[in-house]
Amino acid sequence: MAERAPVDPGGPVHPVDTAGSVDPAGPAGPAGPVDPVELADPGEAAAEAALRPHTLGEFVGQRRVWEQLSVLLDGSRSRGVPPEHLLLAGPPGLGKTTLAMIVAAELGRPLRITSGPVIQHAGELASILSNVTEGEVLFVDEIHRMSRPAEETLYLAMEDFRVDVVVGRGPGATSIPLDIPRFTLVGATTRAGLLPGPLRDRFGFTAQLDYYDDAELAVILARSAGLLGLALAPAAAAEIAGRSRGTPRVANRLLRRVRDWAEVRGGGTLDLDATAAALELYEVDARGLDRLDRAVLDALCRRFGGGPVGLSTLAVSVGEETETVEGVVEPFLLREGLLVRTPRGRLATSAAFAHLGLDPQAAGRLL
Ligand SMILES: Nc1ncnc2c1ncn2[C@@H]1O[C@H](COP(=O)(O)OP(=O)(O)OP(=O)(O)O)[C@@H](O)[C@H]1O
Ligand SMILES: [Mg+2]
Repeated sequence: MAERAPVDPGGPVHPVDTAGSVDPAGPAGPAGPVDPVELADPGEAAAEAALRPHTLGEFVGQRRVWEQLSVLLDGSRSRGVPPEHLLLAGPPGLGKTTLAMIVAAELGRPLRITSGPVIQHAGELASILSNVTEGEVLFVDEIHRMSRPAEETLYLAMEDFRVDVVVGRGPGATSIPLDIPRFTLVGATTRAGLLPGPLRDRFGFTAQLDYYDDAELAVILARSAGLLGLALAPAAAAEIAGRSRGTPRVANRLLRRVRDWAEVRGGGTLDLDATAAALELYEVDARGLDRLDRAVLDALCRRFGGGPVGLSTLAVSVGEETETVEGVVEPFLLREGLLVRTPRGRLATSAAFAHLGLDPQAAGRLL
């Protein structure tokens, strides 16, 4: 497989970038430059990019989306026209950026990467659009965070392949319509519900990504281990998969932690013992909860007797921002059936008490 520069435009928390164009199908080299992202941890970003599948064939799981894309790409190739615009929706770390890159690579077309938060003015988008080339794939990450005026510009470009370029300033400014080449917009969003209807309607197809099951994650881990030159025992792969929250990004990250532990403490063998020891050290429990998840659950069950308790009280009690608790911790706890949201506040379920080894009656509640 070809080596390539990390071109991940990053997740929702990263301050992002300006548009740039790379040829994902082309040979790797110093020319493939896009990562203008300043990630909190560039080492992790590079490690992630190294494990990215580059073809649809290498992309594990998501069978329905996989088939849908495969038909879309085959159709486009056989007709010789760029595919319709495509929206990739789903939680972080499931493969949206990866798929956007795969689409461009499979079509043998250049990829231009930008993201919603950096497109705050219609003019910025117009300048990106007026530079696209025939058949180019324009990837707009976090498309739900684009400004409204920029959205209007995007509608026109998506539907009519036209941008209005404003020339001059103030009352004398005029707008000149400019035809642009047929391109394919690939939008990614973690919050499809926030997309305005007119934008959603302009995509020919929405691929909804879902969490992976443990067997799929084990396959991804085996592939990643192969790329990293690691001998990962199948039992260890299964164990890591079970703690990965259905998310390939998490699986690959845990694999790197287990590798670190095995290399410096465990004699280099990536087996079940090394996995258990490493993940204990990094405080990832058997269900994939990390320290903060457990702190929230612990506060809810012990300090507030299982609730109901308001979000802000809960957040303060673990010393975190409400946004972090609501956006990062709760979705996973909800999905695991450990917590429920009610109009009166957050409630722990009996599974939460069981997970912490607590007796709900002793804690003052029975759910
Ligand atoms: N189906 C898959 N097969 C193998 N690896 C995968 C798959 N999906 C994702 N990955 C791995 O997970 C990592 C994260 O994927 P990606 O960056 O595409 O997620 P994302 O959906 O764009 O996340 P975000 O919403 O945070 O931007 C990639 O580096 C890739 O290595
Ligand atoms: Mg992404």
